[in-house]
Amino acid sequence: MSPERVYIFDTSLRDGQQVPGCKLRKEQKIAIAEQLDVFGVDVIEAGFPISSPGDFDAVQAVAGIVKNATVCGLSRAVANDIEVAAAAVKNAVRPRIHTGIGTSDSHIRFKLNSTREDIIERAIAAVKLAKSYVEDVEFYAEDAGRTDNEFLARVCEAAIKAGATVLNIPDTTGYCLPHEYGDKIAYLREHVAGIHKAILSTHCHNDLGMATANSIAGIENGARQIECTINGIGERAGNTALEEVVMIIRQRLNHRYYTNVQTPMLKNLSQLVADTMGMPVQANKAIVGANAFAHSSGIHQDGVIKHRETYEIIDPADVGVDHSSIVLTARSGRAALAYRFKELGYHLRKDELDVAYQHFLVLADQQKEVVDNDLEILFNEKIFILI
Ligand code: KIV
Ligand code: ZN
Repeated sequence: MSPERVYIFDTSLRDGQQVPGCKLRKEQKIAIAEQLDVFGVDVIEAGFPISSPGDFDAVQAVAGIVKNATVCGLSRAVANDIEVAAAAVKNAVRPRIHTGIGTSDSHIRFKLNSTREDIIERAIAAVKLAKSYVEDVEFYAEDAGRTDNEFLARVCEAAIKAGATVLNIPDTTGYCLPHEYGDKIAYLREHVAGIHKAILSTHCHNDLGMATANSIAGIENGARQIECTINGIGERAGNTALEEVVMIIRQRLNHRYYTNVQTPMLKNLSQLVADTMGMPVQANKAIVGANAFAHSSGIHQDGVIKHRETYEIIDPADVGVDHSSIVLTARSGRAALAYRFKELGYHLRKDELDVAYQHFLVLADQQKEVVDNDLEILFNEKIFILI
């Protein structure tokens, strides 16, 4: 069987910018949206147009410049929200309205002070209204992660009948275990009449650190769209990290699935989003962190120098990183030191390396890392004398 397409829905500009202090100006949203479009995401959720005049302007501007991706605006299941979202995405080449409502008992009772039957009615009305503006309507069942599956299936069925093209099943609170989230998607595929007419979408939050695992479990059980953000930014502990899911699909599941993104752009995109939002990426972040391809223990360095794949499962070039790095610390061995000298153009004989290594260890014990400049000094002051 040939691999199936998994659609990538980027919500860095909507859920991503719900991070405190990360609000973006219009020009910043445009700059990121342009890069996301070239990168090849399928959908760009540009914002929540009713939330402020500034966000409306930004979504409208993004809709005007994006050439390939679908541009999506978020709304609640409220007529005014939907009308404003429709106006904001109107000029997009491919416009989408994303509308929905809370479906868990907790949301229905405490947030919406409503009943299950009323929620279904409101969902139907919202999808129908959105559909009167655009063909492509995505429906979200907020807190689907904690929603009873039988009721969730009824809501999804009603949304499809009303015209939804995509069904978003958010684990809004990051509550589900991967097998529970996967089972939920499988349940919907089995119990929702007309499910083949819509694409099931994952939208997972990272409160328990399981957003990526849950998204992949969703795909393994029939979802074909993943909602995610660059660097995993988003409300509270964040959303599914885009770079993680696309690289999992590329490295481990490529016999079954593929995405359309240009993975060598990942590192630059990560940097762009981190700089623009003022949200630095942690050094040990998978795929895009500063240490993702850095080796510092002697055993690992020796392995990587002999054969990169001994300790790396991704070719750094595939995510836009120039090369793996051998970081010199007091844990490094002779092989790493010789390698770094060689990179600087110094080919040391064995006796020279022995001398250099003893001096290097003294230095490395004094400082966290030994850098190129230290090696230049070491060579000129200690080794050169020997030659
Ligand atoms: O997490 C969530 O439920 C959401 C919806 C608004 C799609 O972000
Ligand atoms: Zn969310």
